[in-house]
Amino acid sequence: MIKALICGIGGKMGANVRGVIAADGEIEVACGVDVAGSDCKIPVYDSFEKVREKVDVIIDFSCPAALRGELEWAKTQHVPVVLAATGYTADDMEYIKAASGEVAIFKSANFSLGVNLLIKLVKEAAQALGEGFDIEIIEKHHRLKADAPSGTALALAESANSAYGGKKAYLNGREGIVGRRGTEIGIHAVRGGTIVGEHEVMFAGEDEIVTLSHSARSKRVFAAGAVKAAKWLCGKKDGLYGMDDMLKI
Ligand SMILES: NC(=O)c1ccc[n+]([C@@H]2O[C@H](COP(=O)([O-])OP(=O)(O)OC[C@H]3O[C@@H](n4cnc5c(N)ncnc54)[C@H](O)[C@@H]3O)[C@@H](O)[C@H]2O)c1
Repeated sequence: MIKALICGIGGKMGANVRGVIAADGEIEVACGVDVAGSDCKIPVYDSFEKVREKVDVIIDFSCPAALRGELEWAKTQHVPVVLAATGYTADDMEYIKAASGEVAIFKSANFSLGVNLLIKLVKEAAQALGEGFDIEIIEKHHRLKADAPSGTALALAESANSAYGGKKAYLNGREGIVGRRGTEIGIHAVRGGTIVGEHEVMFAGEDEIVTLSHSARSKRVFAAGAVKAAKWLCGKKDGLYGMDDMLKI
């Protein structure tokens, strides 16, 4: 049985991961880390240094503030890590890449199969439609989401941009007298209510519009993807992995 540590165990995604694991015969939750604690019946610590259990994998649905303490502990214990939190900075990404030389890390801003298919389709559409089409990304999430734009919106922008050799800049929202549109990719974040996650990529051309979109109807889909990644990651050699490595889309 694979023993998992959930970082952010007291949060909404932590609860979903516990639910998915409870219905899985190959993995169990050994303990958790959460600065705010948790009401679950297993040991939960407010920092990694206090963890006493031996675990086989970490699943992180907390926030970027947890990153450094978590990866230092993971390196010392040589425990692979699934990073599912979003909002990491460029510095954080450098730190993750460096740490992946000493421990296996699986990182994805979105663990749904559908979103990862969308990321691929967006590149194909950008290649097929060419520079005559303007690209706008609209993402919608619940009112409590901490970061904007979403990590998935950025991944979609990167995917579209890769069709143009990465030369397009990203413009987060527009306000005031902005003049005519440039060659940027526009990214727009909407926040409200309990929206789980909506992503729309619009290719607006001369007299026609192509729209590719994905709608998540429950958080469980992300938890299931992260648990699948955790099981897949166990036994892999040190390195940085993503959904492309696990899924055959
Ligand atoms: N990759 C994906 O597919 C995916 C899907 C959904 C959510 N997310 C991301 O997962 C994260 C959590 O989302 P949520 O909706 O569960 O949020 P949440 O606020 O409900 O839960 C976050 C939990 O992390 C804990 N936490 C905060 N700082 C911490 C730290 N330094 N150390 C340990 N624990 C800490 C909080 O106390 C809280 O219990 C967010 O970054 C969100 O964007 C990713």
